[in-house]
Formats: sequence, structure tokens, C-alpha cells
Amino acid sequence: MDKIVALAKRRGFIFPGSELYGGLANTYDYGPVGTELLRNIKNLWWETFVHRRTDIVGLDASLISHQKVWEASGHTSGFSDVLLDCKQCKHRIRADHLIEDYLAENEQKIDEFVRRFDLVPQSTDIDPERIKAGIIHKKVEGLTLLEIETILSHLKITCPNCGKFDWTTPRKFNLLFPVHLGIVMGDQSLAYLRGETAQGIFVNFENVVNSTRVRLPFGIAQLGKSFRNEVTLGNSVFRTIEFEQGEIEYFFDPESENWEKLFATWKEAMWRFIITGLGVREENLRWRIHTDEERSFYSKQTEDLEYKFPFGFKELWGLAYRTDYDLKQHIKHSGKELYVIDPKTNKKVIPHVIEPAVGINRLFLMALCDAYYEEGERTVLRLDPRLSPYKVAVFPLLSNKEQLVSKATEVFDMLRETLVCTFDDRGNIGKRYLYQDEIGTPWCVTIDFQTIEDGSVTVRDRDTTEQIRVPIPELPAHFQKKLSR
Ligand code: GAP
Repeated sequence: MDKIVALAKRRGFIFPGSELYGGLANTYDYGPVGTELLRNIKNLWWETFVHRRTDIVGLDASLISHQKVWEASGHTSGFSDVLLDCKQCKHRIRADHLIEDYLAENEQKIDEFVRRFDLVPQSTDIDPERIKAGIIHKKVEGLTLLEIETILSHLKITCPNCGKFDWTTPRKFNLLFPVHLGIVMGDQSLAYLRGETAQGIFVNFENVVNSTRVRLPFGIAQLGKSFRNEVTLGNSVFRTIEFEQGEIEYFFDPESENWEKLFATWKEAMWRFIITGLGVREENLRWRIHTDEERSFYSKQTEDLEYKFPFGFKELWGLAYRTDYDLKQHIKHSGKELYVIDPKTNKKVIPHVIEPAVGINRLFLMALCDAYYEEGERTVLRLDPRLSPYKVAVFPLLSNKEQLVSKATEVFDMLRETLVCTFDDRGNIGKRYLYQDEIGTPWCVTIDFQTIEDGSVTVRDRDTTEQIRVPIPELPAHFQKKLSR
């Protein structure tokens, strides 16, 4: 991971946020090539799930929304992490991360840990069965504060920073960022930065239904920033306070559609997007079903598509059957009716939803991790060419030969009309190749003395390092063919 983070900084993929002023925790800026990679992932997501489908339309809702939106969704009361502070060194940590990391490191002792909780008497405040299930599945999200405290005191999990066992009592910390609008402070001016893009979709459900020709089943897709006051540090852009989500609410009538079948179709579409869309290795992916304790009470089924990052298998993309919970909450809180009319029966239907929700920055980090290779002298990012920041790099063999430079500029200008390209005439050709390998440019075109004689150029392949000669007029078609798999 350290090597990937170093490459990302060195070559302009990701920079720490506000670095000039000492940095700002859990924020990152995307550099010139990072911006291109991020944009390519977003474009591919949009193209796959909106443009190529006839049943999904797009939306771009405001980042700041009314406090009532978040009251209705349950975020103001329930969208929180359980935090602990070490009284010795003041280190702050999420209790679920602390416990889950501890269990992952002590897997062989899980049976022994579970047996300890057989001795805890059943009470209304603590349920040993829930605790045991959390420990067996190594997922304690959804347990109560008291249950979490019980686990900590039984397992004596120490502070990863100072090694002491001296925690504050677990407490809840809301993740939403409040914003105060205008000059008047107080309840009236309180709004929130959105904690997920999904609520913008539910709030605009009626607008979309009334302004378009959608018919059930249909989806509304949104791509954009969300904000969460996260405290966990590390692992680059995996978990940040400002991040991009790609979310779809897929609305359907549970009386006409089988939810299990729809759920399976979405699983297949998500898997395919990662493998064939982003070119990621299948062996690094897996599905994880949420446990009953972990799953939200309104969800009938939740599964996470996980990727094997260098720091372990982690959630990339969640798929949840959220029933009609969100629309009903907004009906209750807004006092408005939200429904569609079934054209066959003329009946009002409050649709149910299946929600695939992905973090674009996690897809970005996955793309870097999956593409990173060290081969002898060189480090290569074997990105899928469609994701690569630049598709082609154009070089004159020598920068002091005017004839070569002007021909290279001509080729560069021609390719730039249809492809995102870069030009380099600094240093020797070997160094230029190494630089392009590190930013994942799939093809390098060199204009040399033979070009002046016969109008052909050298095309070097990033992955094989093989070089072939291609006539200049054939270059655009040559690369387009490779890109349109
Ligand atoms: N609407 C459902 C929802 O927001 P979520 O599991 O909280 O579900 C969906 O978020 C996805 O957003 C996650 O699978 C993850 O990829 C991404 N995500 C969530 N929090 C994030 C954070 N702090 N930084 C980066 N990505 C995050």
C-alpha cells in the first residue's frame, strides 16, 4: 500500500488535502492524471448504467439539503459511528474497527471468545447471542453501546496507538455535517451536507415520475459527492470525509416483480462492471452477505461486493433491498403522496427499491491496486486502456532534431482530435517509457529517422514492451480498434 500511495503522489494521481498548510485529515486532492482516471471511471459507470439502459434515468441533486430530508431518512438520529477515546494517549477510534481488526488478527481464538459470552446472563440490555454472532462473523456494526462495551471489557482490547487498556465509555457520533445558511444562526437556518446521494433521489421521486415517461420497473441514478464526518485515518482515499458515490434506486412493484430475481440480476451487473468494465481480476472480488444484526431493520437483504485491497477484503459496492421504507418515510414526514399509477389496474403503487451504491473513490483505489506491477527496473500500472489517463504518449526520438520534433507535433495534433494524448521530449526515450508505464499509458508512439523516410512510427505496448511499426495515417484506427473491445 505504501508503494502505491508513493506512486500516486509522485506521478500526480492523489495529493494529501491542504498539504501546503500541514494537511487536513481524511481529505485528498486528485492531481492531473488522477483527475483523468476518476473521470474515466465515472463516465464508464454513467455510460453503463444510464446511457446504455432504457430503464434508468439520471439526476443531479443539490449537495446541501433541508434538515427535514435527513430527519425523514433517519440520518439525524441513527447515522452514527460508535467512538472510543484512549484516556492515556487521546487516540480516537471507531469501536467496530477496533474490535473487528482485533478479531481478524486473533481468528484462531474466536471459539474461545464466543464461550466467554455464554457466562453473561441474558438481560434486556445485553443479548449474548447477538454478541456471539457479531464475534463469529467479525462484524459488530448494529450492536448496542452496552454490548460493545461488554465485548471490550471481556476481550481487553488495548489501544493500537499506545498499547494501554483505558478507553472512555463508547458513545455515538453523528456523521452528518451540519451547515448554517444565511446570517441567522439557529434551527431555522440548519441544513445538512448530504450523507448519501440516495436521499436526493427519493426527494425528487415525484418530480422524475411527473416529468418523464418512466414506467415500473425503473431506476434513478445519481453520481456525486457525499460527506461524512469520518474519524478513521489511513488507507489513502478508501475512507474520506468527502467522497463520490454512484447510486441507483431501482423502483419496482413487489406484486409484479420477484425481488430475489431482480437482486440477482443486479449482482450480476455489478460483478460484470468490475471485471469487464474496469478490467479488474476476478480472484480479488467476493460477495459478503450482511448478518441479521448488521443489516438495517428495513432491509430485507444486503450484500457487499468486496475487493481484496492490500489491507484486506473491504466493501466496494453495497446492494440493498430497502423495501418501500424511504418513500414511506418521506410520505410520512412531508405529508405528500408519493406513488406511481399502475396503467393496467389504475391503482396507486408505492414502489419498493433495490439500491446498488458504490464509492467511486474506492473504485479508483481498486483500479490502482489491481493494476500495480513491479517488473525488474520498471513499475507498471496495467490499467484497462479505457481507464488510462492518457491513451497515447507521443515522442520525437531526439528533442534537438527539428525535423523529428515537427513531425511528432503533427502526429500528436492528429491523434489529439480523437484520443486523450500526451507529448514528451524530455530526457532519453527509456526514461520517457518508464514515466508513461508508471501512469498507465498503454501505448507510446516514437517518431524516429525511419519516420522521415517511410512515414511509419514505432508503437510500443506498455504491457508486453513489444514494438511494432505502424504507418501514420493508420494510427487513429489502430488505437480505436484496441480501445473498442
Ligand atoms: N445509500 C446507501 C449508502 O450510502 P453506504 O454503504 O453507506 O450506503 C455506499 O455507502 C458506498 O459508498 C460504500 O460501499 C463505499 O464504497 C462508499 N463510501 C461510504 N462511505 C465512504 C467514505 N467515507 N469514503 C469513501 N467511500 C465511502
